[in-house]
Amino acid sequence: MRILSVVGARPQFVKLAPIAKAMRDEAEHVIAHTGQHYDHNMSDAFFADLGIPAPDVNLGIGSGSHGEQTGAMLSGLEKVITDTAPDWVLVYGDTNSTLAAALAAVKLHQPVAHLEAGLRSFNRRMPEEHNRVLTDHAADLLLAPTQVAMDHLADEGLAGRGVLVGDVMTDVLYQVRDRVADTPLALDAAVEPGAYHVATLHRPDNTDDPERLRAIIDGIAKVDTPVVLLAHPRLRHVADRHGIDLGVGAITVCEPLGYPELVNAVSHSAGVITDSGGLQKEAFLLRVPCTTIRPETEWVETVDLGWNVLVDRDFSTLAATVERPRPAATDAAPYGTGRAAENTVRALVDRG
Ligand code: UD1
Repeated sequence: MRILSVVGARPQFVKLAPIAKAMRDEAEHVIAHTGQHYDHNMSDAFFADLGIPAPDVNLGIGSGSHGEQTGAMLSGLEKVITDTAPDWVLVYGDTNSTLAAALAAVKLHQPVAHLEAGLRSFNRRMPEEHNRVLTDHAADLLLAPTQVAMDHLADEGLAGRGVLVGDVMTDVLYQVRDRVADTPLALDAAVEPGAYHVATLHRPDNTDDPERLRAIIDGIAKVDTPVVLLAHPRLRHVADRHGIDLGVGAITVCEPLGYPELVNAVSHSAGVITDSGGLQKEAFLLRVPCTTIRPETEWVETVDLGWNVLVDRDFSTLAATVERPRPAATDAAPYGTGRAAENTVRALVDRG
Protein backbone atom coordinates (compact mmCIF):
# COMPACT_ATOMS: atom_id res chain seq x y z
CA MET A 1 0.00 0.00 0.00
CA ARG A 2 1.22 3.49 -0.84
CA ILE A 3 0.26 6.40 1.42
CA LEU A 4 0.94 10.02 0.53
CA SER A 5 1.20 12.32 3.57
CA VAL A 6 0.79 16.01 2.82
CA VAL A 7 2.13 18.46 5.41
CA GLY A 8 3.18 22.10 5.35
CA ALA A 9 3.02 23.82 8.73
CA ARG A 10 4.73 23.30 12.07
CA PRO A 11 2.02 21.35 13.96
CA GLN A 12 1.74 18.95 11.03
CA PHE A 13 5.40 17.96 11.30
CA VAL A 14 4.78 16.99 14.93
CA LYS A 15 1.79 14.84 13.87
CA LEU A 16 3.74 13.33 10.99
CA ALA A 17 6.57 12.09 13.25
CA PRO A 18 4.74 9.19 14.97
CA ILE A 19 2.86 8.35 11.76
CA ALA A 20 6.09 8.08 9.73
CA LYS A 21 7.47 5.76 12.42
CA ALA A 22 4.34 3.58 12.58
CA MET A 23 4.21 3.42 8.79
CA ARG A 24 7.74 2.03 8.43
CA ASP A 25 6.94 -1.69 8.12
CA GLU A 26 3.32 -1.31 7.05
CA ALA A 27 3.22 0.80 3.89
CA GLU A 28 5.22 2.71 1.33
CA HIS A 29 5.15 6.24 2.71
CA VAL A 30 5.62 9.25 0.46
CA ILE A 31 5.87 12.69 2.12
CA ALA A 32 4.96 15.92 0.34
CA HIS A 33 5.74 19.28 2.00
CA THR A 34 3.85 22.26 0.60
CA GLY A 35 6.44 24.72 1.92
CA GLN A 36 3.82 26.73 3.86
CA HIS A 37 6.35 27.00 6.69
CA TYR A 38 9.91 27.45 5.48
CA ASP A 39 12.04 29.05 8.22
CA HIS A 40 14.56 26.51 9.49
CA ASN A 41 13.18 26.55 13.05
CA MET A 42 9.57 26.31 11.80
CA SER A 43 10.24 23.36 9.47
CA ASP A 44 13.57 21.54 8.88
CA ALA A 45 14.45 21.52 12.58
CA PHE A 46 11.31 19.43 13.25
CA PHE A 47 12.26 16.82 10.65
CA ALA A 48 15.76 16.55 12.14
CA ASP A 49 14.73 16.55 15.83
CA LEU A 50 11.84 14.11 15.42
CA GLY A 51 13.67 11.72 13.06
CA ILE A 52 11.21 12.25 10.19
CA PRO A 53 12.46 11.19 6.75
CA ALA A 54 13.12 14.19 4.47
CA PRO A 55 10.10 15.04 2.31
CA ASP A 56 10.07 13.35 -1.10
CA VAL A 57 8.68 16.55 -2.59
CA ASN A 58 8.77 20.16 -1.38
CA LEU A 59 6.58 22.54 -3.34
CA GLY A 60 8.17 25.64 -1.74
CA ILE A 61 4.90 27.57 -1.81
CA GLY A 62 5.71 29.88 1.13
CA SER A 63 3.55 32.75 2.37
CA GLY A 64 0.75 34.67 0.72
CA SER A 65 -2.90 35.56 1.16
CA HIS A 66 -5.18 32.59 1.87
CA GLY A 67 -6.26 32.45 -1.76
CA GLU A 68 -2.76 32.74 -3.19
CA GLN A 69 -1.32 30.21 -0.76
CA THR A 70 -4.12 27.65 -1.06
CA GLY A 71 -4.41 28.08 -4.84
CA ALA A 72 -0.70 27.53 -5.42
CA MET A 73 -0.86 24.41 -3.24
CA LEU A 74 -3.88 23.07 -5.12
CA SER A 75 -2.17 23.17 -8.48
CA GLY A 76 1.15 21.89 -7.12
CA LEU A 77 -0.47 19.02 -5.22
CA GLU A 78 -2.60 17.93 -8.17
CA LYS A 79 0.60 16.94 -9.97
CA VAL A 80 2.14 15.30 -6.90
CA ILE A 81 -0.99 13.21 -6.29
CA THR A 82 -1.27 12.22 -9.96
CA ASP A 83 2.41 11.23 -10.12
CA THR A 84 2.30 9.32 -6.82
CA ALA A 85 -1.03 7.53 -7.41
CA PRO A 86 -1.38 6.62 -3.72
CA ASP A 87 -3.94 4.32 -2.10
CA TRP A 88 -4.56 7.06 0.48
CA VAL A 89 -3.82 10.75 0.62
CA LEU A 90 -3.38 11.47 4.33
CA VAL A 91 -3.97 15.06 5.44
CA TYR A 92 -3.32 16.47 8.88
CA GLY A 93 -5.12 19.01 11.07
CA ASP A 94 -6.57 22.29 9.86
CA THR A 95 -4.14 24.40 7.88
CA ASN A 96 -4.33 25.71 4.33
CA SER A 97 -2.08 22.77 3.36
CA THR A 98 -4.73 20.37 4.74
CA LEU A 99 -7.59 21.83 2.74
CA ALA A 100 -5.58 22.16 -0.47
CA ALA A 101 -4.48 18.50 -0.32
CA ALA A 102 -7.97 17.21 0.46
CA LEU A 103 -9.55 19.22 -2.33
CA ALA A 104 -6.88 18.31 -4.91
CA ALA A 105 -7.24 14.61 -4.01
CA VAL A 106 -11.05 14.28 -4.09
CA LYS A 107 -11.20 16.01 -7.46
CA LEU A 108 -8.79 13.35 -8.73
CA HIS A 109 -11.00 10.61 -7.18
CA GLN A 110 -8.20 9.65 -4.82
CA PRO A 111 -9.24 8.37 -1.37
CA VAL A 112 -8.54 10.93 1.36
CA ALA A 113 -8.06 10.29 5.07
CA HIS A 114 -8.16 13.20 7.52
CA LEU A 115 -6.15 12.89 10.68
CA GLU A 116 -7.47 14.99 13.58
CA ALA A 117 -10.97 14.92 12.13
CA GLY A 118 -14.02 16.20 14.00
CA LEU A 119 -12.41 19.01 15.97
CA ARG A 120 -14.60 22.11 16.06
CA SER A 121 -14.28 25.58 17.57
CA PHE A 122 -17.61 26.70 16.06
CA ASN A 123 -15.84 30.02 15.45
CA ARG A 124 -16.37 30.91 11.81
CA ARG A 125 -13.79 33.73 11.99
CA MET A 126 -11.00 31.16 12.23
CA PRO A 127 -9.51 30.09 8.89
CA GLU A 128 -8.70 26.75 10.54
CA GLU A 129 -12.40 26.12 11.30
CA HIS A 130 -13.30 26.34 7.60
CA ASN A 131 -10.29 24.22 6.69
CA ARG A 132 -11.31 21.43 9.05
CA VAL A 133 -15.05 21.44 8.30
CA LEU A 134 -14.48 21.41 4.54
CA THR A 135 -11.79 18.75 4.81
CA ASP A 136 -13.99 16.48 6.94
CA HIS A 137 -16.84 16.71 4.46
CA ALA A 138 -14.52 15.99 1.53
CA ALA A 139 -12.62 13.08 3.09
CA ASP A 140 -13.47 9.37 2.90
CA LEU A 141 -11.98 8.34 6.24
CA LEU A 142 -12.14 10.53 9.34
CA LEU A 143 -9.55 9.69 11.97
CA ALA A 144 -10.76 11.36 15.16
CA PRO A 145 -8.62 12.13 18.23
CA THR A 146 -11.37 12.19 20.89
CA GLN A 147 -14.92 11.07 21.63
CA VAL A 148 -16.01 14.72 21.49
CA ALA A 149 -14.65 14.89 17.92
CA MET A 150 -16.55 11.69 17.05
CA ASP A 151 -19.73 13.30 18.41
CA HIS A 152 -19.21 16.37 16.20
CA LEU A 153 -18.81 14.14 13.15
CA ALA A 154 -22.05 12.33 14.06
CA ASP A 155 -23.85 15.69 14.43
CA GLU A 156 -22.82 16.53 10.86
CA GLY A 157 -23.94 13.19 9.45
CA LEU A 158 -20.38 11.90 9.10
CA ALA A 159 -20.40 9.15 11.74
CA GLY A 160 -20.15 6.41 9.10
CA ARG A 161 -16.74 7.65 7.98
CA GLY A 162 -15.35 8.21 11.49
CA VAL A 163 -12.90 6.07 13.46
CA LEU A 164 -11.68 6.99 16.95
CA VAL A 165 -7.89 6.51 16.83
CA GLY A 166 -6.73 8.85 19.63
CA ASP A 167 -4.46 11.84 19.45
CA VAL A 168 -1.12 11.37 17.64
CA MET A 169 0.33 14.49 19.29
CA THR A 170 0.03 12.60 22.57
CA ASP A 171 2.15 9.78 21.11
CA VAL A 172 4.99 12.09 20.19
CA LEU A 173 4.70 14.16 23.38
CA TYR A 174 5.06 11.06 25.56
CA GLN A 175 8.04 9.80 23.52
CA VAL A 176 9.84 13.14 23.68
CA ARG A 177 8.90 13.75 27.33
CA ASP A 178 10.57 10.47 28.28
CA ARG A 179 13.65 11.45 26.24
CA VAL A 180 14.03 14.89 27.81
CA ALA A 181 12.72 13.96 31.29
CA ASP A 182 16.06 14.30 33.06
CA THR A 183 17.54 17.11 31.02
CA PRO A 184 18.05 20.40 32.87
CA LEU A 185 16.25 23.53 31.77
CA ALA A 186 17.89 24.72 28.54
CA LEU A 187 16.21 28.03 27.72
CA ASP A 188 18.15 30.93 26.28
CA ALA A 189 16.70 33.29 28.92
CA ALA A 190 17.60 34.19 32.49
CA VAL A 191 14.90 32.13 34.25
CA GLU A 192 14.80 29.58 37.06
CA PRO A 193 13.04 26.19 36.81
CA GLY A 194 9.46 26.40 38.08
CA ALA A 195 9.53 30.21 38.19
CA TYR A 196 8.63 31.36 34.68
CA HIS A 197 5.85 31.04 32.13
CA VAL A 198 6.04 30.05 28.46
CA ALA A 199 3.94 32.11 26.03
CA THR A 200 3.10 31.82 22.32
CA LEU A 201 0.73 33.91 20.20
CA HIS A 202 0.06 33.54 16.49
CA ARG A 203 -3.70 33.39 15.69
CA PRO A 204 -4.67 36.13 13.23
CA ASP A 205 -7.56 37.15 15.54
CA ASN A 206 -5.00 37.95 18.27
CA THR A 207 -2.10 39.30 16.18
CA ASP A 208 -3.69 41.23 13.33
CA ASP A 209 -5.67 43.85 15.29
CA PRO A 210 -3.00 46.15 16.82
CA GLU A 211 -5.28 47.33 19.66
CA ARG A 212 -6.07 43.79 20.73
CA LEU A 213 -2.45 42.72 20.39
CA ARG A 214 -1.33 45.68 22.52
CA ALA A 215 -3.88 44.79 25.21
CA ILE A 216 -2.77 41.15 25.26
CA ILE A 217 0.92 42.08 25.48
CA ASP A 218 0.16 44.61 28.27
CA GLY A 219 -1.74 41.88 30.14
CA ILE A 220 1.09 39.36 29.82
CA ALA A 221 3.68 42.01 30.79
CA LYS A 222 2.04 42.30 34.24
CA VAL A 223 2.56 38.64 35.23
CA ASP A 224 4.69 38.44 38.41
CA THR A 225 7.11 35.77 37.18
CA PRO A 226 9.15 36.13 33.97
CA VAL A 227 7.35 35.16 30.75
CA VAL A 228 9.36 33.69 27.87
CA LEU A 229 7.52 34.64 24.67
CA LEU A 230 8.43 32.26 21.84
CA ALA A 231 7.65 34.62 18.98
CA HIS A 232 6.06 33.10 15.86
CA PRO A 233 7.08 34.95 12.65
CA ARG A 234 3.48 36.20 12.20
CA LEU A 235 3.66 37.87 15.64
CA ARG A 236 7.03 39.51 14.93
CA HIS A 237 5.93 40.79 11.51
CA VAL A 238 2.74 42.34 12.88
CA ALA A 239 4.38 43.80 15.99
CA ASP A 240 7.11 45.40 13.82
CA ARG A 241 4.54 46.81 11.43
CA HIS A 242 2.55 48.46 14.22
CA GLY A 243 5.52 49.52 16.36
CA ILE A 244 4.46 47.26 19.24
CA ASP A 245 7.31 46.39 21.60
CA LEU A 246 6.96 42.76 22.65
CA GLY A 247 9.77 42.72 25.21
CA VAL A 248 7.99 44.74 27.92
CA GLY A 249 7.47 44.11 31.65
CA ALA A 250 7.78 40.42 32.50
CA ILE A 251 8.30 39.41 28.84
CA THR A 252 11.55 38.13 27.32
CA VAL A 253 11.23 37.52 23.58
CA CYS A 254 12.85 34.35 22.18
CA GLU A 255 12.88 32.54 18.84
CA PRO A 256 10.43 29.63 18.41
CA LEU A 257 11.90 26.42 19.89
CA GLY A 258 12.42 23.00 18.41
CA TYR A 259 10.03 20.35 19.71
CA PRO A 260 12.31 18.69 22.34
CA GLU A 261 13.35 22.14 23.59
CA LEU A 262 9.70 23.19 23.81
CA VAL A 263 8.80 20.09 25.83
CA ASN A 264 11.77 20.79 28.09
CA ALA A 265 10.76 24.45 28.53
CA VAL A 266 7.10 23.68 29.26
CA SER A 267 7.92 20.80 31.65
CA HIS A 268 10.04 23.10 33.81
CA SER A 269 7.61 26.05 33.66
CA ALA A 270 5.00 27.28 36.15
CA GLY A 271 2.45 27.66 33.37
CA VAL A 272 1.68 28.34 29.73
CA ILE A 273 -0.04 31.29 28.04
CA THR A 274 -1.01 30.55 24.46
CA ASP A 275 -3.47 30.61 21.58
CA SER A 276 -2.03 27.42 20.03
CA GLY A 277 -4.24 24.35 19.95
CA GLY A 278 -1.36 21.90 20.30
CA LEU A 279 0.30 23.71 23.17
CA GLN A 280 -2.88 23.76 25.30
CA LYS A 281 -2.96 20.01 25.09
CA GLU A 282 0.77 19.55 25.60
CA ALA A 283 0.55 21.69 28.77
CA PHE A 284 -2.27 19.48 30.05
CA LEU A 285 -0.38 16.26 29.24
CA LEU A 286 2.65 17.63 31.10
CA ARG A 287 0.31 18.77 33.90
CA VAL A 288 1.24 22.41 33.57
CA PRO A 289 -1.63 24.93 33.99
CA CYS A 290 -2.55 26.78 30.80
CA THR A 291 -4.22 30.11 30.07
CA THR A 292 -5.61 30.26 26.55
CA ILE A 293 -6.16 33.59 24.80
CA ARG A 294 -9.19 32.63 22.73
CA PRO A 295 -12.98 32.66 23.12
CA GLU A 296 -13.19 28.89 22.76
CA THR A 297 -11.10 25.77 22.35
CA GLU A 298 -11.32 22.56 20.34
CA TRP A 299 -9.65 20.73 23.24
CA VAL A 300 -12.55 21.18 25.67
CA GLU A 301 -11.31 18.36 27.91
CA THR A 302 -8.42 20.55 29.12
CA VAL A 303 -10.95 23.14 30.37
CA ASP A 304 -13.42 20.61 31.80
CA LEU A 305 -10.64 18.99 33.81
CA GLY A 306 -9.61 22.39 35.25
CA TRP A 307 -6.15 22.70 33.62
CA ASN A 308 -6.99 25.34 31.03
CA VAL A 309 -8.75 28.69 31.46
CA LEU A 310 -9.93 30.73 28.46
CA VAL A 311 -9.47 34.52 28.45
CA ASP A 312 -10.84 36.49 25.55
CA ARG A 313 -11.84 40.05 26.40
CA ASP A 314 -10.56 41.66 29.56
CA PHE A 315 -6.78 41.33 29.57
CA SER A 316 -6.35 43.65 32.57
CA THR A 317 -6.87 40.61 34.83
CA LEU A 318 -4.89 38.18 32.66
CA ALA A 319 -1.97 38.12 35.14
CA ALA A 320 -4.26 37.02 38.01
CA THR A 321 -5.67 34.20 35.85
CA VAL A 322 -2.17 33.09 34.86
CA GLU A 323 -1.06 33.05 38.52
CA ARG A 324 -4.13 31.14 39.82
CA PRO A 325 -3.53 28.15 42.14
CA ARG A 326 -2.76 24.82 40.48
CA PRO A 327 -5.84 22.68 39.78
CA ALA A 328 -6.55 19.33 41.43
CA ALA A 329 -4.39 16.45 40.17
CA THR A 330 -6.02 14.14 37.64
CA ASP A 331 -5.10 10.90 35.90
CA ALA A 332 -7.71 11.39 33.16
CA ALA A 333 -6.48 10.41 29.67
CA PRO A 334 -8.95 11.90 27.17
CA TYR A 335 -6.28 11.95 24.44
CA GLY A 336 -5.38 8.28 24.51
CA THR A 337 -2.39 6.41 25.78
CA GLY A 338 0.20 7.16 23.12
CA ARG A 339 -0.81 4.56 20.50
CA ALA A 340 -2.83 6.72 18.13
CA ALA A 341 -0.32 6.48 15.27
CA GLU A 342 -0.48 2.67 15.32
CA ASN A 343 -4.29 2.85 15.34
CA THR A 344 -4.18 5.27 12.42
CA VAL A 345 -1.95 3.11 10.25
CA ARG A 346 -4.08 0.04 11.08
CA ALA A 347 -7.24 1.92 10.04
CA LEU A 348 -5.63 2.93 6.73
CA VAL A 349 -4.28 -0.53 5.95
CA ASP A 350 -7.57 -2.24 6.87
CA ARG A 351 -9.60 0.10 4.66
CA GLY A 352 -7.13 0.49 1.79
C1 UD1 B 1 -0.54 28.28 10.20
C2 UD1 B 1 -1.89 27.59 10.23
C3 UD1 B 1 -2.34 27.34 11.66
C4 UD1 B 1 -1.26 26.69 12.50
C5 UD1 B 1 0.02 27.51 12.39
C6 UD1 B 1 1.16 26.95 13.20
C7 UD1 B 1 -3.37 28.14 8.34
C8 UD1 B 1 -4.53 28.96 7.90
N1 UD1 B 1 -2.91 28.40 9.60
O1 UD1 B 1 -0.71 29.61 10.70
O2 UD1 B 1 -3.50 26.52 11.65
O3 UD1 B 1 -1.66 26.64 13.85
O4 UD1 B 1 0.39 27.59 11.01
O5 UD1 B 1 2.28 27.79 13.21
O6 UD1 B 1 -2.87 27.33 7.60
N2 UD1 B 1 6.11 32.83 8.27
C9 UD1 B 1 7.49 32.95 8.28
N3 UD1 B 1 8.22 31.81 8.27
C10 UD1 B 1 7.67 30.58 8.26
C11 UD1 B 1 6.26 30.48 8.24
C12 UD1 B 1 5.50 31.60 8.27
O7 UD1 B 1 8.04 34.05 8.31
O8 UD1 B 1 8.41 29.59 8.25
C13 UD1 B 1 5.26 34.04 8.29
C14 UD1 B 1 4.61 34.30 6.97
O9 UD1 B 1 5.32 35.15 6.19
C15 UD1 B 1 3.28 34.91 7.34
C16 UD1 B 1 3.02 34.38 8.72
O10 UD1 B 1 4.20 33.82 9.22
O11 UD1 B 1 3.38 36.29 7.46
C17 UD1 B 1 1.88 33.41 8.74
O12 UD1 B 1 2.20 32.16 8.11
P1 UD1 B 1 1.00 31.22 7.58
O13 UD1 B 1 1.55 29.96 7.12
O14 UD1 B 1 0.15 32.00 6.64
O15 UD1 B 1 0.06 30.96 8.81
P2 UD1 B 1 0.37 30.73 10.35
O16 UD1 B 1 -0.03 31.94 11.09
O17 UD1 B 1 1.76 30.20 10.59
